[in-house]
Amino acid sequence: MFSRITGIGSFLPGAAVSNGDLADRGIETSDEWIVSRTGIRFRHLAASGETASDLALAASRRALAAAGLEASDLDLIIVATSTPDFIFPSTACLLQGKLGNQGATAFDVQAVCSGFVYGLTIADKFIRSGSHRRALVVGAEVFSRILDWKDRGTCVLFGDGAGAVVVEAAEQPGILASAIHADGTYNPILCVPGTVAGGAVIGDPFLRMDGQAVFKFAVRVLGEVAQEVLDQARLTTSDVDWLIPHQANIRILQATAKRLSMDMDRVITTVDRHGNTSAASIPLALDLAVRDGRIQRGAHVLLEGVGGGFTWGGVLLRY
Ligand code: ACO
Repeated sequence: MFSRITGIGSFLPGAAVSNGDLADRGIETSDEWIVSRTGIRFRHLAASGETASDLALAASRRALAAAGLEASDLDLIIVATSTPDFIFPSTACLLQGKLGNQGATAFDVQAVCSGFVYGLTIADKFIRSGSHRRALVVGAEVFSRILDWKDRGTCVLFGDGAGAVVVEAAEQPGILASAIHADGTYNPILCVPGTVAGGAVIGDPFLRMDGQAVFKFAVRVLGEVAQEVLDQARLTTSDVDWLIPHQANIRILQATAKRLSMDMDRVITTVDRHGNTSAASIPLALDLAVRDGRIQRGAHVLLEGVGGGFTWGGVLLRY
């Protein structure tokens, strides 16, 4: 028994917000600074009151339509998010309620920007075990809610969005190899070190980051985990048709491609249009490249995530 992606969908809230729009809103920055350091030109920001489960719902409906399934057909719903609607219930349960599914296993995965790769790996293992047959895996984020708009070093980097895939049991693989890792000793270099207790926010509720430490860590582990999943599948980088790394920063994508000796024309890039949408970035990029015809059935696609925790992982699949 294997698992295979049978439908993809994504959703971006509102209109694109340019770097110039951010400067117009009073952030001391410029299009030149942001583009030269990150490659980001636009991002989308959710409206006030628009939540991760709302974005997840729109992306999921598109993925279900692409797979030709109804929500009631699902027996597993996994939502990767670090910006859940509530402390509880999980965003997966809220999504399940909005979709009108009753009875499926539903839970959130908290692995920050690696969340989608974690979720897809978990769904693959559930399906291969024989316990489940039709999974929905979603990355959905409203990072705009946890940004300190007075911290120009972080607030210009992120955006909101959601991407979803339907994964079904199949006789031929689909997912060829996967690996997920974490090293909690690196937690201070990217975190939101606050919580809620006794009716108040305790600590700092905003995203904090040591950008240069994150950069170095990301490039190293994205290179290592790519090699790990390729070794598992007994393939090499020359067999990979498309690389989709987590879309954090164009310089991280370029450095990763170089490390893997891959040309940038085999790397799907959306960071210019979406910014960093954390757990949503990989399925958003996958959806775009499938819909515009670059990724065709049978292509070898390598997905790679890295994020706060620190967490990282890779999934190699035959689309
Ligand atoms: N606009 C204008 N100037 C800025 C801005 C801004 N938005 N942000 C910072 N600056 C200034 C700083 O104040 C500093 O000025 P100073 O020299 O007068 O003190 C100068 O630019 C350089 O700042 P640095 O932080 O040293 O800039 P750096 O070259 O390290 O670039 C960046 C920062 C883009 C964040 C880089 O470190 C990076 O790309 N890191 C990777 C982090 C990343 O992508 N994180 C995403 C989340 S993690 C993940 O998804 C895995």
